[in-house]
Amino acid sequence: MKTKLIYIDTDHIDPALASQAGMVLSSGGVVAFPTETVYGLGANACDSAAVKKIFVAKGRPADNPLIVHVADIAEVERLVYKIPEPAELVMKNFWPGPISIILKKSDRIPDIVSAGLPTVAIRMPSHPVAMAVIRASGVPVAAPSANISGRPSPTTAAHVLADLDGKIDMVVDGGTCGIGLESTVLDLSGDVPVILRPGGVTSSMLMPLIGEVKCPQAEPLADGDTPKSPGMKYRHYSPNADVYVVEKESQATSENDVSRAVLDLCKKSRRQGKRVGVLACRGIGKDAAADVCIDGGETSDEYGAGLFAALRRFDEQGADIVYAPMLFYDEFSYAIRNRLYKAARGKVIKV
Ligand code: TXA
Ligand code: MG
Repeated sequence: MKTKLIYIDTDHIDPALASQAGMVLSSGGVVAFPTETVYGLGANACDSAAVKKIFVAKGRPADNPLIVHVADIAEVERLVYKIPEPAELVMKNFWPGPISIILKKSDRIPDIVSAGLPTVAIRMPSHPVAMAVIRASGVPVAAPSANISGRPSPTTAAHVLADLDGKIDMVVDGGTCGIGLESTVLDLSGDVPVILRPGGVTSSMLMPLIGEVKCPQAEPLADGDTPKSPGMKYRHYSPNADVYVVEKESQATSENDVSRAVLDLCKKSRRQGKRVGVLACRGIGKDAAADVCIDGGETSDEYGAGLFAALRRFDEQGADIVYAPMLFYDEFSYAIRNRLYKAARGKVIKV
């Protein structure tokens, strides 16, 4: 299959281009498009055959459900059994934006979308190109991240093409995604709201609005545990390199201590003949003379926005081992650690 690539300028959306992409979606095709979090791979959520193409292209396990994207809050009523008050509040206050909510589904959602669960995740993205494409399609759009399953989520059209060129109908290039980490997944189908995946909308933003929010440790599960969100059990974001997160053991550890530790780790790995990568964090790690050094930026927002691109670059540059000092402690860094620990398969060096 030839994958068509079109460019849509976020600041001046060409309606003719948006409707080209919309028509591919409404006629059963599969289109990758940018959102404010990561690129999504979309298909008509009400068309099981179209949704199946997403699973095939990504190599996604059939028991991992998809998020349905809408361009209008009014659409949600048709997709769910009932809209409880907390859902109403979250939609009014945080949509369009980086939070997906899980509710009991209506019959309009085919089983393939919800992977057989009685619930469905729904989100209204704030990216103007995503909104224009979904609106033009006239259908609710099921869209997981537009990567091969297990690879880092794509934050540019080039990442999408690297994984899916020749496997999908169209890629809409709308530039680099601003947030860079996937949406918060908030389960509102039970008695107490639960964050199944941390993201841009944090529990302290939600609690004043909807009261108690559970935020279970989003660490990898032990064998035999049943995850509430099927996606949590799969290995994610795994680069070929062995990733080690380097963190402070306690408040007594200084940033200099972390910096020295990264330097020593790099030296040791290079002596072992390894090609070493460092993902610098607020400059820490930049002076470690790594073979591949990527600047993670000065703020957690910058770090989150660049994390997946960095993991892809380490692979491209053939790093065998990557050290990632992590020195952010604000609320967004919870979402960052969730992804980074998965990429590191839980390997954390405390200094
Ligand atoms: O930011 C995002 O959410 C991006 C963009 C494209 O919108 N999408 C995304 O989708 O990250 P995906 O499929 O890569 O991740 C969806 C996560 C998975 O972990 C999945 O298991 C979980 O949400 N999920 C979806 N529906 C669910 C449901 N009904 N119950 C529990 N978990 C669900
Ligand atoms: Mg994904």
